[in-house]
Amino acid sequence: MEIIIRPSPEECASIGGRIIANLIKGKPDAVLGLATGSTPMPLYCELARMHEDEGLSFSEITTFNLDEYIGLSGDHPCSYQYFMNKELFSRIDIRADSTHIPNGEADDIESECLGYEQAIRSSGGIDLQVLGIGSDGHIGFNEPGSSLASRTRIKTLTGKTIEDNARFFDNLNQVPRHCITMGVGTIMDSVSLILYAFGERKADIISKAVEGPVSAMVPASILQLHPRVRVIVDEAAASKLTNIDYYKEVYVNKPDWQE
Ligand code: F6R
Repeated sequence: MEIIIRPSPEECASIGGRIIANLIKGKPDAVLGLATGSTPMPLYCELARMHEDEGLSFSEITTFNLDEYIGLSGDHPCSYQYFMNKELFSRIDIRADSTHIPNGEADDIESECLGYEQAIRSSGGIDLQVLGIGSDGHIGFNEPGSSLASRTRIKTLTGKTIEDNARFFDNLNQVPRHCITMGVGTIMDSVSLILYAFGERKADIISKAVEGPVSAMVPASILQLHPRVRVIVDEAAASKLTNIDYYKEVYVNKPDWQE
């Protein structure tokens, strides 16, 4: 794991933007895995800026989102489809038919999940997956106790996640109880990953995910077993890491060729 600590979410976003731009320059038809929620928003602003100011083109890329609530239509303002259209897709030159988000309104959820896995495989697999982390350690919506080998499937959200996500809805009761999410195994198949976390609220779980034991009770900790993971966090989210000085020293002294 490479742990990158920067003062602000915007600086973290600019590093991610550069990584994605380099990926697309080397492979214009790259496959990106995307996340929703508050955490990736600075990155999406940065990608929109790079498109606008630097002409970075997304016209050949394919995207797969991690998850979607069950029961919300794509035009519901709290659906992840709506979020992605608003925060990223409408701001760049991506082709709508190259974007994929699980259909939370599918009649047959099981075949929707199998089809999603198949679509990821048919695309050649995810080159770079962007992740946030839940305060309970979830990635995607793989809640504590999820199988570390799981594939795309239906999950029930924990009370903690429902509480955390209630801020996007009018009240707690409106938060759907179920979702479709890529599994931990699906996420781990990505060639490389960026895990973002910002703010003091994420400091405890970042220290567990990065420096604690690998455990299904902290699904993000499985990333310790992946060879190409960057954890990009602001100072506040990094504040409970034990090896903080070492991570900073590694980053500052990184040889140019490693970039
Ligand atoms: C969203 C997702 C979740 C979020 C996590 C953090 O697609 O998969 O794992 O990344 O719940 O959410 P925020 O960023 O809102 O704190």
